[in-house]
Amino acid sequence: MEFSELAKKRYSVRSYNGKKVEQEKLEKILEAAHAAPTAANLQPVRLLVIQEEEGLEKLSKAANVYHAPLVIVVCADHDKAWVRPFDQKQTCDIDASILTDHMMLQAADLGLGSVWICYFKPDVLRKEFGIPENLEPVNILAVGYSDETPQPSDRHGKTRIPIKDLASLEHF
Ligand SMILES: Cc1cc2nc3c(=O)[nH]c(=O)nc-3n(C[C@H](O)[C@H](O)[C@H](O)COP(=O)(O)O)c2cc1C
Repeated sequence: MEFSELAKKRYSVRSYNGKKVEQEKLEKILEAAHAAPTAANLQPVRLLVIQEEEGLEKLSKAANVYHAPLVIVVCADHDKAWVRPFDQKQTCDIDASILTDHMMLQAADLGLGSVWICYFKPDVLRKEFGIPENLEPVNILAVGYSDETPQPSDRHGKTRIPIKDLASLEHF
């Protein structure tokens, strides 16, 4: 599928049909994360992959993942992050989000649905999964087979601000 078609076809899935994600598809999703760029190639991101019932049960204390069968918690490693020298900004949450986006689009290309989740309790997540201090859970990606009617690919004209408002030419 052409990239622009894939990008427009993807939508957030909040209802899954219960079918498990095949191991080969999980591997492809992780390969997409592996290929993602990070600042100065420092790779300050760690992924926690949750598929077993016990893990999904623990996760439900921290977030609503819509009963997705596969959940990936994307953590930024503050000990490995690149720091911009001018203002000390760490870019590891940006890196974490690029990996998340790569995985989300790879999932769509494999015929899987997904939803990106930031509405979670980080302290509960830390406690339940023993996430060390240096790792910050930034995003959760829930993945599975959609049980929803697909959103139309041409919906962005109505659901997004106009491109002329999004992108300014030469000056704001
Ligand atoms: C950074 C980020 C955080 C999000 N957090 C949540 C969330 O916690 N729960 C949820 O249901 N959807 C969440 N979403 C999904 C957005 O609501 C969704 O992408 C947006 O409404 C556009 O819809 P679409 O993905 O179907 O195009 C999040 C998306 C992003 C990019």
